[in-house]
Amino acid sequence: MAKVKPELESVRLKKEVEMVNQLPPHPNIAYYEECYTFKEMLGEYDFGVLQYYEEGNLLQLLKKGNISLEQKQSILTQILAGLQFLHENGIIHRDMKPHNVLIVKRGNEYIPKITDFGISKKLDVNKSSIFSNSLVGAGTNENPKYHPAIKAWFILMIISSAIVL
Ligand SMILES: Nc1ncnc2c1ncn2[C@@H]1O[C@H](COP(=O)(O)OP(=O)(O)OP(=O)(O)O)[C@@H](O)[C@H]1O
Ligand SMILES: [Mg+2]
Repeated sequence: MAKVKPELESVRLKKEVEMVNQLPPHPNIAYYEECYTFKEMLGEYDFGVLQYYEEGNLLQLLKKGNISLEQKQSILTQILAGLQFLHENGIIHRDMKPHNVLIVKRGNEYIPKITDFGISKKLDVNKSSIFSNSLVGAGTNENPKYHPAIKAWFILMIISSAIVL
């Protein structure tokens, strides 16, 4: 659920839901079921509905242990496939972290689903460099959290978590 702030209209949850759900189907993306907007005394709220992923997120899965090296390799490869798919569709996630990767278990295989696109940026296709564009913070906030190096950091974090946990 997210409060709609007029100054952050361009990054409201409703926009995220529309952005994600207009993408073609991809096995490593968590699509929304629905999005509702509630008007209350204190303001307007967007309420996005996802299916419940009972395996939880990637960090929880890694912490549980007993994930084989092959399964970890498969999870990482699938996350990279999901990120590549987003990039091919002009979307930079900018909040990638293990909490935002939900897990489905199918037999012995784990299928990661990338979620929480709240501060993602739809790239301006007229801009030549995705990197210059991805440096722009959500709304008016320039935030080092969104630096493109964060994606390299995220991948390294997953690899190191997978080794340590
Ligand atoms: N559909 C879902 N099924 C199962 N667990 C979920 C689902 N959506 C979110 N979670 C889990 O609920 C917790 C809270 O999620 P939430 O997105 O609010 O916070 P976060 O991922 O920790 O941080 P951020 O707000 O930066 O995304 C996280 O552990 C997340 O993995
Ligand atoms: Mg999250």
